[in-house]
Amino acid sequence: MKSAKVAVKNFGNKLAPLVIASPYQQFTSHPALRGRDITTVEALSAEEIKLILACAKVLKLKPKDPAQKQIAEGKTLAMLFEKPSLRTRITFEVGMNQLGGSALFVEGKLGIREAICDVAGNLDRWVDVIMARTFSHQTVLELCKYAKVPVINGLSDLEHPCQTLADLLTIEEHKGSLKGLNIAYVGDANNVANSLMIGALKMGANFTLACPAAFAPNDDMVAAAAKAASESGAKLKIVHDPVVAVQHADVVYTDTWVSMGQEDEAEIRKQAFAPFQVNSTIVSYAKPDAIVMHCLPAHRGAEITDEQLDGPQSVVLDQAENRLHAQKGLLTLIL
Ligand code: CP
Ligand code: NVA
Repeated sequence: MKSAKVAVKNFGNKLAPLVIASPYQQFTSHPALRGRDITTVEALSAEEIKLILACAKVLKLKPKDPAQKQIAEGKTLAMLFEKPSLRTRITFEVGMNQLGGSALFVEGKLGIREAICDVAGNLDRWVDVIMARTFSHQTVLELCKYAKVPVINGLSDLEHPCQTLADLLTIEEHKGSLKGLNIAYVGDANNVANSLMIGALKMGANFTLACPAAFAPNDDMVAAAAKAASESGAKLKIVHDPVVAVQHADVVYTDTWVSMGQEDEAEIRKQAFAPFQVNSTIVSYAKPDAIVMHCLPAHRGAEITDEQLDGPQSVVLDQAENRLHAQKGLLTLIL
């Protein structure tokens, strides 16, 4: 980061320098996350999440401010994708461009053509940060182990931390504050649910997850969520009735019933999750001003109806937009 602009002011017959602070400097010089791998929401403290959201909000005020071009000037992000993407790929690439850097896209399963340690070792010599979307969370951890540059999880089978940062930003924008809100997640206890559950509880929001009994959430994720709840004073509930979950909810959230890599289970999942569709009946049990959220891509008519996805309570496009701002905040703090 270049130094702040210096103006000169006539000060008591002497010329004294007047430093015009860049609004970004407090973040570009903040040490908390510098060089850190971002693998899970679980590994971020509430203070670190607040810092990322604060940075994102400042960057969002003027996303194309030429001054932002200094933040990642000359820096390169390698984006490794084992799975498809629209939002993650575009928002990381646009975000790096807006910060003055560049991003390059690599597609394909990792560890096939060459060992992951070798991929990480090579990338280290060329790029400044790595983002990876993987099937197994272990692949992200292996990249972290062997790469000296920071690694960001762009979705694994365990967590989707970038999505949660954008979602928390979106909820704050619509509801003013996260503390004390009631967030209901209806559907599959997947990567998106894991990250949101832990992130929301860390920020003091109550979180209720409604899922079929046969598709219980991961024990380790529930333990991490319970720890987050006990630290913040928020409440965690896991129920199997979607109506119970959405009563008094400020936020109703859902995601696909069949995540990438689970295609073989599609039929059994569609049957098991059918009672967990986010539709007008379910949303009518939430608070009248509740917002409806989905990380996208949505399967219209499956986990969510057109009426809810496109309806007045839906904030799904704000979430998608905020992927850009939240990830720019993250990049500003780690690069
Ligand atoms: N929500 C999300 O991660 O979208 P993509 O799969 O399109 O990146
Ligand atoms: N749970 C979904 C999220 C897609 C962004 C999946 O993993 O496919």
